[in-house]
Amino acid sequence: MNIEVENLVLKYGDSTAIDNLNLTVEDGEAVVLLGQSGCGKTSTMRCIAGLEEPASGSVRIAGDYVFDSAKGIDKPPHQRNIGMVFQSYAIWPHLTVFENVAFPLTMKRTPKSEMRQRVTETLKLVGLDHLAERGASMLSGGQMQRVALARSLVMQPSVLLLDEPLSNLDARLRDRLRIELRELQLELGLTSIYVTHDQDEALALADRIALMQHGRIVQIGTPTDIYGSPLSASIADFLGVSNIIPVTEVDSSTIKLSGSDIALKVGPYSTSGSDLKACIRGEDLELAAPEAAGMNSVPGIITVQSFQGPTVQFHVKTNEGLTFNVLAPKAAAMQFKLHDEVTVRIPSAGVQVLPTEVAAA
Ligand SMILES: Nc1ncnc2c1ncn2[C@@H]1O[C@H](COP(=O)(O)OP(=O)(O)OP(=O)(O)O)[C@@H](O)[C@H]1O
Ligand SMILES: [Mg+2]
Repeated sequence: MNIEVENLVLKYGDSTAIDNLNLTVEDGEAVVLLGQSGCGKTSTMRCIAGLEEPASGSVRIAGDYVFDSAKGIDKPPHQRNIGMVFQSYAIWPHLTVFENVAFPLTMKRTPKSEMRQRVTETLKLVGLDHLAERGASMLSGGQMQRVALARSLVMQPSVLLLDEPLSNLDARLRDRLRIELRELQLELGLTSIYVTHDQDEALALADRIALMQHGRIVQIGTPTDIYGSPLSASIADFLGVSNIIPVTEVDSSTIKLSGSDIALKVGPYSTSGSDLKACIRGEDLELAAPEAAGMNSVPGIITVQSFQGPTVQFHVKTNEGLTFNVLAPKAAAMQFKLHDEVTVRIPSAGVQVLPTEVAAA
C-alpha cells in the first residue's frame, strides 16, 4: 500500500514544524527520513499515523484519504491500519512477552484461538517465540525492542512507521537488529517509513532516503544518489563531508577558495551564484611531501594527527589559515607526523561545488 503526503503543514502554536511537505512512498518501499534533531521527522510520522491534526494538506494510504483538510477528513489512528514503533518502546513490565504482543488484539476482541496463532507466528518472526512466557521486565534491551516491534506487526499493518526504534541499543545489537529489520521489511513487503538521525543506519535500511531540513524534504533519492551527489553544502555537511569551504567562481572548471589565492581545477559543475561551497570528503584528499607541487596542491603544516584504527585523521593548516581535514589510510599516513610540512593534493574529481542551501525537493 502506498502513502501519499501532499502539501502537509503542521503548526505547534505559532511555530511551523512541517512546512509544506510532499512525500510519496511506493507500495513495499522503505523510505528513511533523515535529518537533524528538530527538523520534523517525528511530527511527519505522527501526522501520517493520525496523532496530530495538520493545519493543511492531505495524507492518502492506498489511495484512500485518511486526512484532507479541504475535504474535512481526519480518520482516527485505529482506522488507518498503521503500525508504529516509537523511540521509547512502551512495553508493560508486569505482562509476559506473549501478553504484551497480544494486547492490541485483546483490545480489538480478536477470538482467543486466532489471537494465540497470530501472536505465536509474530513472535517466531522476531525470534522471541522461546521467551513467550517470560515477564517483560526480565528482557534485554534488544529483546524489549523486538517485543515492541512484534506488537506493531501482530496487527498486520499495511504500513509500518518506525521512529528511531534502535536508538537505545548498543552498537553491535543495533547493527544486527538493523539487518533483521531490513529482512523483515522485504519478507513481508511492508511499506515503511523509518526515522533516524544516524546516516549509516539510513544507508543500510533505505530503498530511498528523504533528507529533511526545517520541516521540508530537501532531497530524496537512493542511498547512492544521496551519498554521492548531495544537492547542497548543508546536506553534504550532514552526511559527514568534512571539508566545506566557501569559494568563488572563476570559470566553468575553476574555483578560488575564498580568502586565499588558491585556485582549484574542478570537474564541471552546474551551480552558479554568490553562495558557493567546495565540498570535499577527507578520504578524497591526499598528503604528499612538501616539495610536491603542481595543480591543486596546497602547502601546509600538520596541526592534528589522530589515529582511528584503519585510518588516520589529519588537520593541515595552510599559510592563509585554511584547515583541511585529511583522512589517510594507515599505511599512507606512516610517513607523516605532527608539525610536518606537507602538501595537500586535491583531486578534481573529489570536489563538488554546491550551493549552501537548497529549497524543498
Ligand atoms: N508537542 C510539541 N509542542 C510544540 N512544539 C513541538 C512539539 N513537538 C515538537 N515540536 C517542535 O517541532 C519541531 C519538530 O519536532 P520533531 O519532534 O518532529 O523533530 P524530530 O526531527 O523528530 O527531532 P529529533 O531527531 O530530535 O527526534 C521542533 O522544533 C520541535 O521543537
Ligand atoms: Mg523525533
